[in-house]
Amino acid sequence: MHGVSSTLFGVQLRDFTILGLETSCDETAAAIVRGRAPGPGTILSNVVLSQLEQHAAFGGVVPEIAARAHVEALDSVIEAALREASVSPINIDAIAATAGPGLIGGVMVGLTTAKALALAWERPLVAVNHLEAHALTVRLSHRVDFPYLLLLISGGHCQLLGAHDVGRYELYGTTVDDALGEAFDKVAKLLGLTYPGGPKVEALARAGDPKAFKLPHPMVGRQDANFSFSGLKTAVRQIVRSPGFSEASRADLAASFQASVIASLADRVAVAMDLFRSAATNDAACTLVIAGGVAANSAIRSALSQLASAQDFRIMVPPSHLCTDNGAMIAWAGVEHAQRGRFDDLAIGPRARWPLATASQHSLGSAD
Ligand code: KG4
Ligand code: ZN
Repeated sequence: MHGVSSTLFGVQLRDFTILGLETSCDETAAAIVRGRAPGPGTILSNVVLSQLEQHAAFGGVVPEIAARAHVEALDSVIEAALREASVSPINIDAIAATAGPGLIGGVMVGLTTAKALALAWERPLVAVNHLEAHALTVRLSHRVDFPYLLLLISGGHCQLLGAHDVGRYELYGTTVDDALGEAFDKVAKLLGLTYPGGPKVEALARAGDPKAFKLPHPMVGRQDANFSFSGLKTAVRQIVRSPGFSEASRADLAASFQASVIASLADRVAVAMDLFRSAATNDAACTLVIAGGVAANSAIRSALSQLASAQDFRIMVPPSHLCTDNGAMIAWAGVEHAQRGRFDDLAIGPRARWPLATASQHSLGSAD
């Protein structure tokens, strides 16, 4: 660590330069980010190597293949991130890596590599909660202050949270079955599209009529802010398998599915907006942030923008390439933690499960 800095409420007022590693699913990613909270930060490099080809034949991510591919690729991805940023290890303040939740083999590869670099370069480690990294990414791309209402929609999660501070999240609602990205991926498979299906369903939906099929609008009208997508997926499956279904209707079905998802999301987010607003302690405009891979969907973004303006919320969404998994979001979470002096012991273990509500716990030194 270098440089002289002052602090405000325990937050160091200087820039941090952090190397971030992401290996929790099927992207091997490393990035270097410089900045300070509340952002925005500067992305000096952001190298993402997708393993899509290795998994393509299996129609989904195979954990064992993913872990091996991370081992093979991570060193050169880190080298590329350093080279592209023109930063040498001496200028790195800390190393951040996803420590969970995710596929445990991949998380072990990234976290162990980060520990080795921390030892070799004599720099501290930040063990990052992957969900918290998604939650904070908007502060890397824009200037957004706490608190904000967060819709986190990814391949593994679907949650509505109040983000009050780094490490302080309040759960308003979650899915009772499938995550939204998972629902997109399963529907994609039913429509004959390859993994990851979300972007392909979105593209196919553009050519279809969203009113062509009558599908359920899950959870609409309920007082809680939870989600459910498995019934919708089952309805799509029944239509695909019905005798009258033809290839020509695929785009209409994709569009109808996406329209149902949007109707459900808008209703659930509206409930959470009421919860968030009633708990707000000042009259400042409320902010809705959308994060996670599914936030890359432009139909969802524009529907939620309309909802936000009708409800007097400001909406902030990171650019699409920062919504899907990447190293810059991990590095930024590292910046936010480092500024607060929150580093982790090298004994910390990887975690397959790590709910965001407990993301404030540090240096636990054990795996779950
Ligand atoms: O956040 P992410 O990259 O990985 C996880 O942490 O899960 O999210 C990946 C998920 C996949 O399910 C993928 O199909 C979905 O995000 N996704 C999309 C779009 N882009 C990615 N879903 C719908 N529309 C998109 N444009
Ligand atoms: Zn993710």
